[in-house]
Amino acid sequence: MNTAEIEQEFTQKIDAANDLGSLDTIRVEALGKKGRITELMKGLGKLDPDQRKEQAVVFNDLKNGVMAKLESRQSILKKAAMAERLKAEKIDITLDVRPERKGTIHPITQTMDEMIAIFADMGFSIHDGPDIEDDFHNFTALNFPPKHPAREMHDTFYLPDVEGAEGDAAKRLLRTHTSTCQIRAMLDQKPPLRKIVMGRTYRSDYDITHTPMFHQLEGMVIDKETNMGHLKGCLKTFCEKFFGVEDLPVRFRPSFFPFTEPSAEMDIGCSRSKGALKIGAGDDWLEILGCGMVHPNVLKNVGIDPDVYQGFAFGMGIERVAMLKYGIPDLRTFFEGDTRWNAHYGHDPLNKPNLATGS
Ligand code: DAH
Repeated sequence: MNTAEIEQEFTQKIDAANDLGSLDTIRVEALGKKGRITELMKGLGKLDPDQRKEQAVVFNDLKNGVMAKLESRQSILKKAAMAERLKAEKIDITLDVRPERKGTIHPITQTMDEMIAIFADMGFSIHDGPDIEDDFHNFTALNFPPKHPAREMHDTFYLPDVEGAEGDAAKRLLRTHTSTCQIRAMLDQKPPLRKIVMGRTYRSDYDITHTPMFHQLEGMVIDKETNMGHLKGCLKTFCEKFFGVEDLPVRFRPSFFPFTEPSAEMDIGCSRSKGALKIGAGDDWLEILGCGMVHPNVLKNVGIDPDVYQGFAFGMGIERVAMLKYGIPDLRTFFEGDTRWNAHYGHDPLNKPNLATGS
């Protein structure tokens, strides 16, 4: 039998194979240890050198031809097998949930999703960090001097000291603010940076406006030409989108944070007539967040040259802005897990926030 006939015979068999198992049987028949083509190749040794060279080329072509056909048939059969499996394992997700059992999205989750939509549109990406932190990330790297009263202001929850470590290195704590992630972001990645961080923070405090666990949003931009004008523009845009108010008045008041210089607190315009708070142009102001230009010492602490880079940062309480936006009067109720509260203040799971439809 000549090689063309052999190739034709295998081609027919390959085309007729309907599953991966029978295709493999054909592969073994052709190219296995005792396969037809393998045997032909083995026979090459017995030929004289000139003939061997010639025949080797012919046999190789045969081998490559059959292999290519096997591979192409295999990929067709694999696709078919996958399609078959997907069909068999299909789950019908079109059935609606029972309306009386419908769950809701917690206002904190909803607010975070709204924040992501707005900041992502401005080019920010998300960074993260652990709830259990060390003294370095929570205080020292953020330019809190040792024994500085600002450390006490945070009512920190300390964990037992790390065994075998000493001084500040031994201290573990629940992060008191998400500013820890400024340090993490700058150590993880090189500037320019545009980051937001959202997550849980902890302070030992409990009353109508304080819970021991609450959430913060932190934002940070590090670049070569970043100034306070950018900071104000960024925050004004955020507040306008978040509260759905065009041309919202904002003002900066001087403040102090160890990790920013200058530091400011930002207020947004509001009116309080007959006890009803309304956000927008009015004769009153409402404090909403803390911000400032990242302190040169903070940049130095993470190995960024403050003569080349500067940046701004801001932080706000997520519950606080959610309470203002959705008219929720008591912070503590966020975490009580009362299903009536959840049903009342919760959001439709299918109504995902995005900029196109408003939040
Ligand atoms: N970390 C501050 C706090 O928890 C909030 C804050 C203020 C964050 C100013 C910042 C900032 O990034 O620039 O009270």
